[in-house]
Amino acid sequence: MYETRVLSGMRPTGSLHLGHYHGVLKNWVKLQVEYTCLFFVADWHALTTDYEKPGDLNQSGLDMVIDWLASGVDPSQAILFVQSQVPEHAELHLLLSMMTPIGWLERVPTYKDQQEKLVDRDLSTYGFLGYPLLQAADILIYRSKFVPVGEDQVPHIEFAREVARRFNHLYGREPGFEEKAKAAVKKMGTKKARLLNEMRTKFLEHGEKEALARAQAMLDEQQNLSRGDRERLYGWLEGGGKKILVEPEALLTEAARLPGLDGQKMSKSYGNTIALREEPEAVAKKIKTMPTDPARVKRTDKGTPEKCPVWSLHLVYSDEEKKKWAHKGCTTAGIGCLDCKQPIIEAIQAELKPIRERAQPYLDDPTLVKNIVADGNEKARKLAEETMREVREAIGLAYT
Ligand code: TRP
Ligand code: SF4
Repeated sequence: MYETRVLSGMRPTGSLHLGHYHGVLKNWVKLQVEYTCLFFVADWHALTTDYEKPGDLNQSGLDMVIDWLASGVDPSQAILFVQSQVPEHAELHLLLSMMTPIGWLERVPTYKDQQEKLVDRDLSTYGFLGYPLLQAADILIYRSKFVPVGEDQVPHIEFAREVARRFNHLYGREPGFEEKAKAAVKKMGTKKARLLNEMRTKFLEHGEKEALARAQAMLDEQQNLSRGDRERLYGWLEGGGKKILVEPEALLTEAARLPGLDGQKMSKSYGNTIALREEPEAVAKKIKTMPTDPARVKRTDKGTPEKCPVWSLHLVYSDEEKKKWAHKGCTTAGIGCLDCKQPIIEAIQAELKPIRERAQPYLDDPTLVKNIVADGNEKARKLAEETMREVREAIGLAYT
């Protein structure tokens, strides 16, 4: 049976901040309970843009993993690994590169956008052009069904779907496919075989998507199918060849966007962050010095919360009653900005306390993190190897 796999990667940026926590990590923590999750340090991806000054990728990766763990990502539920330690990603990337038209890569929106934005470096490189294909390999090598990403990454997932389709189209055809598929259906028993045939006809002749979904569910439940047969039947249901690679779907998170201290997006490069391991005093200081509505020069000046980044934090952290209090106090000059900020300081300190505590053992003993990642690398390699065996065989590179 295919379990439903979820995969996501993050570039190694060192220690993380509250924006990562609200935008990404809280979601990962939820997903790990429901699915087989693979979360990885995308260290090769960092090189696609930062090859001139990569810094200490190893250390930044481990620091980042500490913050995943501190946020509640659980290595007994999810597989945490490092991309470069699973070299099969590179092999799949290479093989896919043989069949990926350059035009597809040039048309990925981030290609031109990033080249225009990151003017301080030369991004007219082979690696940077191929970066979405590397990402496709990351995803496809685990037959991931869902990929939690931000809006900006959606075209990359769409690209990965197209690559998977092309690969299956080119290499999913095998001699005697129809016969093999029919033999596989028979193995499911007469009753199920009839049902499956009916649903396939409904889909192929009348385009009934529901029938296809039901047929796929039947395959998922069927215990006695080999992986090869399952791939054949998946393809056969849709009138095509074997489905060796799975087409992934983006999983968009509708997380409340946590603004930075200046009201812009929270980002290290803007210097407006609160780190996940920020000490309580530092949190207080950062919030206390946050800019507010510039109209409130004196305590008696009335303000407009909508023009104030502190208000945005109330929207994330405060209940209705607190929000009402802040809003009214601001617009009537009933409270000062420091009063208004106090509940935010407390809420963030309370949120960060358990995170800091969970990080501590890993900071005291870094071998703990290294072992978690080593274990994850091994598990990931095993899954990647399963896919690669079939990929090599389909292309004719099995050498057995
Ligand atoms: N490209 C992603 C980013 O820059 C990171 C990434 C690499 C990724 N491979 C991935 C995300 C695979 C999801 C799935 O943020
Ligand atoms: Fe901002 Fe609150 Fe001050 Fe109003 S009272 S300007 S919302 S910090």
